[in-house]
Amino acid sequence: MTQQDQVRDHDFDGIREFDNRLPNWWLWSFYLACIFSVIYWVHYHVLRTGAAPLQEYAMEMKAADERAAAELARSPVDDASLLALAQDAAAVAEGRKVFMTPGQCVTCHKEDGGGLVGPNLTDNAWIHGGSPMAIHKTISKGVPEKGMQAWEALLGPAKVRQVTAFVLTLKGKNAPNGKAPEGKVE
Ligand code: HEC
Repeated sequence: MTQQDQVRDHDFDGIREFDNRLPNWWLWSFYLACIFSVIYWVHYHVLRTGAAPLQEYAMEMKAADERAAAELARSPVDDASLLALAQDAAAVAEGRKVFMTPGQCVTCHKEDGGGLVGPNLTDNAWIHGGSPMAIHKTISKGVPEKGMQAWEALLGPAKVRQVTAFVLTLKGKNAPNGKAPEGKVE
């Protein structure tokens, strides 16, 4: 028994204990944890000089979206790439968001694409052509004299491709109560 190991005189249900000094490594890990927690708290919660995990997540998601959009904008656009995009659930979901944004496509073409001011997009008749590239062109350049604006200027190339992919998924769905077909059946 060292000098330290003095049993204290209390007794808890037969359990007795020493009153030794805690080892230095233990004390230091405790002090450092205290210091660290103060720095952490000031950095993330008082000064807000660091991004908290949720903010960091949002930033990473935004950067990933931007990278994907830039990549899409760089890759060539043709019938095959648009058809492939129409098979890509994530791209179609993004395109659907563009379509359903109030004041955009949905206002004139209706939620189900059946057509209101604009023509029915769910039949097989097309005024300006029903090939993927023709649809892409109508959306990006618009038909300004008929009230369909050139969407590329507003949405940018990536979103135009995504919304084209979404429109391609509507083709031939024949929404109930849709507008009568206009243009040429393709
Ligand atoms: C202000 C109303 C309006 C909005 C908003 C609008 N469109 Fe149109 N759209 C029209 C009209 C009108 C036409 C028919 C033009 C014509 O008769 O030549 C048309 C035509 C089209 C066509 C060609 C159809 C065909 O038969 O060739 C496509 C595809 C289309 N729109 C997709 C879209 C998409 C995608 C959006 C959203 C990004 C959109 N439109 C937003 C009014 C609109």
